[in-house]
Amino acid sequence: MGNSWFVGILLPIFLCVYFFGGFVNGLGVNWGTMATHKLLPATVIQMLKDNGIKKVKLFDADSDTMSALAGSDIEVMVAIPNDQLLAMNSYDRAKEWVRRNVTRYNFNGGVNIKYVAVGNEPFLTTYNGSFINITFPALQNIQNALNDAGIGDSIKATVPLNADVYNSPESNPVPSAGQFRTDISGLMTQIVDFLSQNSAPFTVNIYPFLSLYGNDNFPFNYAFFDGGNPVVDNGIQYTNVFDANFDTLVSALKVAGHGDMTVIVGEVGWPTDGDKNANVANAQRFYNGLMPRLAANRGTPLRPGYIEVYLFGLIDEDAKSIAPGNFERHWGIYRYDGQPKFPLDLSGQNQNTFLIAAQNVEYLPQKWCMFNPNAKDLSKLADNINYACTFSDCTALGYGSSCNNLDANGNASYAFNMYYQVQNQNDMACNFQGLATVTTQNVSQGTCNFIIQIASPSSSLGPSLVGIAFFTALTSLLL
Ligand SMILES: *[C@@H]1O[C@H](CO)[C@@H](O)[C@H](O)[C@H]1NC(C)=O
Ligand SMILES: *[C@@H]1O[C@H](CO)[C@@H](O)[C@H](O)[C@H]1NC(C)=O
Ligand SMILES: *[C@@H]1O[C@H](CO)[C@@H](O)[C@H](O)[C@H]1NC(C)=O
Ligand SMILES: *[C@@H]1O[C@H](CO)[C@@H](O)[C@H](O)[C@H]1NC(C)=O
Ligand SMILES: *[C@@H]1O[C@H](CO)[C@@H](O)[C@H](O)[C@H]1NC(C)=O
Repeated sequence: MGNSWFVGILLPIFLCVYFFGGFVNGLGVNWGTMATHKLLPATVIQMLKDNGIKKVKLFDADSDTMSALAGSDIEVMVAIPNDQLLAMNSYDRAKEWVRRNVTRYNFNGGVNIKYVAVGNEPFLTTYNGSFINITFPALQNIQNALNDAGIGDSIKATVPLNADVYNSPESNPVPSAGQFRTDISGLMTQIVDFLSQNSAPFTVNIYPFLSLYGNDNFPFNYAFFDGGNPVVDNGIQYTNVFDANFDTLVSALKVAGHGDMTVIVGEVGWPTDGDKNANVANAQRFYNGLMPRLAANRGTPLRPGYIEVYLFGLIDEDAKSIAPGNFERHWGIYRYDGQPKFPLDLSGQNQNTFLIAAQNVEYLPQKWCMFNPNAKDLSKLADNINYACTFSDCTALGYGSSCNNLDANGNASYAFNMYYQVQNQNDMACNFQGLATVTTQNVSQGTCNFIIQIASPSSSLGPSLVGIAFFTALTSLLL
């Protein structure tokens, strides 16, 4: 009797504590939703819970997502996208935003909001300064609105910034020489002063993959955590660019008078497709280096101890802009359908275990669109492939990617299928002027997976008749 009580109730509790005790302390993930077919918010939240993930960073404050998060106790960073920063320069609008997107959820059983991200990497050099003048006023207004609403003690506004807001001089390229970028150093000092006054953290996104992507001379192993050639700085050996980059920021903060400011890593991760260095093996190597360090609260040479970190990202996003590169749509630790891509052990012990997949995901039927081998007139083939790829995701076809070894017919089939799946397998979306045909055979080849999309009630391109007619008209216009 006493024993079965122990086995039935105490043992499971004990096992939970035992297994979850080793989890990376306070690990967060980025949940982006730029996908043609989105998993249901409730499905994603169950996935987070199943894997013991207790923090999530969003890129907006979508009400379906927020409602689904209510009662979950998951800590949330909500966000104001860059295109709303200008509006937030009005204090009344900022107050309205806080009322509608923070205060509304701030009740017992509501959403556990911890941070408001004001903008997303607004000072990227590729934005040509578009957000330079409007980010700081937006930050001030949002934090002041939080303070005025009486929730500023527990909810902090921060600006997730790209690591290109700071650097070390070329003459002395070591972390201890870090400083904010000269064109924005005055602005950055104002921002960190304000963050400090409000006990808010500095948020930075650090991407060793991008160091490698941008520079063929970059020492490959230095992007990972297992054996890069050390850079020696004041007697400290840096063996990986993540630590070096983080400590460059710590030095820049020190120069700005806030050497002790809390730093959150808003994004870190490795993509699995869309570039010669973006593949599962490299992603696994990266995470196998990162997770044990996080689990051990190793920190960096200048900041030993716990660092709050959000992985980027949770799920692949097939509708993200590929301006930065084809890899942009492949950052997920999960595929588009909530299946884990590679073993990832959140306990930091590299036990070769997979994350728990999304549950009860429904797929479209087992139908693919392929190049019609009997097609006679191939003169319009290139145009049709172009069209298919413009309205779907063909990034896996590029150099160094998982489908780069297809022959010409395979390329066409891949493009046609991606479009057909985005269009929810609508029959009219697999014609391409007679060049395509539907098949029930899985036409995947080698490393190249011809996907079946998920049946998604929130897919952005629903199979409405108006939509079909519109696309048909568009197709005939364009081709
Ligand atoms: C709240 O957030 C949503 C989603 O990001 C946004 O569309 C909306 O404009 C915000 N509400 C207000 C009142 O600003
Ligand atoms: C920035 O400037 C470049 C060159 O002038 C231009 O090609 C690009 O579109 C601009 N980007 C933005 C976001 O304005
Ligand atoms: C930002 O403000 C400065 C100084 O007022 C001005 O020179 C600059 O053109 C502004 N930049 C943008 C993108 O509006
Ligand atoms: C298939 O498409 C890719 C990407 O567009 C291209 O690099 C490759 O040359 C194509 N292969 C053939 C055989 O046409
Ligand atoms: C199609 O085949 C590929 C490669 O064999 C496989 O990975 C994939 O799961 C299959 N797809 C479906 C929907 O069965």
